Amino acid sequence: ENMISLFDSNMLQKQVNMPKEFIWPSTDLDTTQEELKEPLIDLSIMKGGDEKAIASAAELVRKACMDHGFFQVINHGVEQDLINDAYCETDSIFKQPISRKLSAKRVAGGISGYSGAHADRYSSKLPWKETFSFVYNHQNSLNSQIVNYFKSVLGEDFQNTGLVYEKYCAAMSELSLVVMELLAISLGIDRLHYRRFFQDGDSIMRCNYYPPCKSSGLTFGTGPHSDPTSLTILHQDQVGGLQVFANKKWLSVRPRSEALVINIGDTFMALSNGRYKSCLHRALVNKYIVRKSLVFFVCPRKDKVVKPLESLLSKNEARKYPDFTWASLFEFTQKHYRADVATLQSFF
Ligand code: SIN
Ligand code: FE2
Repeated sequence: ENMISLFDSNMLQKQVNMPKEFIWPSTDLDTTQEELKEPLIDLSIMKGGDEKAIASAAELVRKACMDHGFFQVINHGVEQDLINDAYCETDSIFKQPISRKLSAKRVAGGISGYSGAHADRYSSKLPWKETFSFVYNHQNSLNSQIVNYFKSVLGEDFQNTGLVYEKYCAAMSELSLVVMELLAISLGIDRLHYRRFFQDGDSIMRCNYYPPCKSSGLTFGTGPHSDPTSLTILHQDQVGGLQVFANKKWLSVRPRSEALVINIGDTFMALSNGRYKSCLHRALVNKYIVRKSLVFFVCPRKDKVVKPLESLLSKNEARKYPDFTWASLFEFTQKHYRADVATLQSFF
C-alpha cells in the first residue's frame, strides 16, 4: 500500500520544501474570511413541547438544508465537560509515537483505526491531517465495544480513552435522534420516521488532528467533499478552518464552543429525494497551531434500504435516486469514491 504519512519524511520538523503530494491546485485554496450565516437552532425547544417554537425552528432547518445543508445547534444537551474530555483523549491518542499509532493503522478500505494523510478519498492530493476512527453501534451501547476496541489496538492504558468516547458517542446517538425528529418535522413527514430508521445504525466516530503547517496556503486539512453518510455532527475547536460552499462561494464557519455543527450527507439527500443538499465543505490548516475536530457520522444499519418515504413524494414526483443499501454505498466509497468528482451520481 502506497501511503505517505505526515511523519514519514519528518515533515513537521523540516517543512522546508512542501512535498508535492500535499500541494493542492491554488485556485481551490482561494480563501475567504467571509462568514457563513447559518441558523443557530436552540434544541431545548424539542423538550418543551412548544409546537410553535418547534415549527419555526423546523422552518429555519428546512431553508438551510435546501440552501447548503448546514446548520448549528445549541442547548443540545451534550455536556461541555464531556466535549473537553473528548479533546483531551484526542491529544493522548495523537501524541503517541508513530510506531504505536501505526499499530492501530486503518487498512485500505477499512473504517477503524489510525490514518496519517490518507489519500483514498481524493483523486490526487493528500490532506494534511491525522485521523483516528471507530464504529459505534447505536443498539449495542452497553457492550463496551469502544473500550474494547481502544484496548485491543492501542493497549490497556487506553481504557479511559475508550470510556470517554463511549460516553461521547452515546450522547451523539441521543442527539442524532432529536435532530432526526426535527428533520422529519421540517420535511412534513411522520416525526418519528427517521428516529425509527436510524435508531439501530452503525455510526462512525472520527477524531481529526491537523498539525500546524508552515505552508498552510498550499494544502488542505480536509479537501472539498460531501459526506457519504446521512448526518454529520461535528465539534470544531476554537482555531477555525471549517468552510462551507454556499451561495456559490466558500464561507467560513465561526467556531462556537457551545455549539455543534450539523451537516446533511449524501444518504440523507437521497432519503429526502434531493430536497436537502448534501453539504459541500472543507477544512483549512493553521500555520501556527494544531486544529482538532470531533466528528460523528450518523449512518443507518448496513442492510437498510435507502429510499424516500412515499408520503414525502408529491404527485408524479420522480425518484431522484434508485433504492440502495447503505452497505453498498459505503463499500463503493471505500473503494473508488473520489470526493473531488461528483458524489452520489458517480455511484449509480
Ligand atoms: C471533515 O469534514 O471531515 C472534517 C471537517 C473539520 O475538521 O472541520
Ligand atoms: Fe466531512
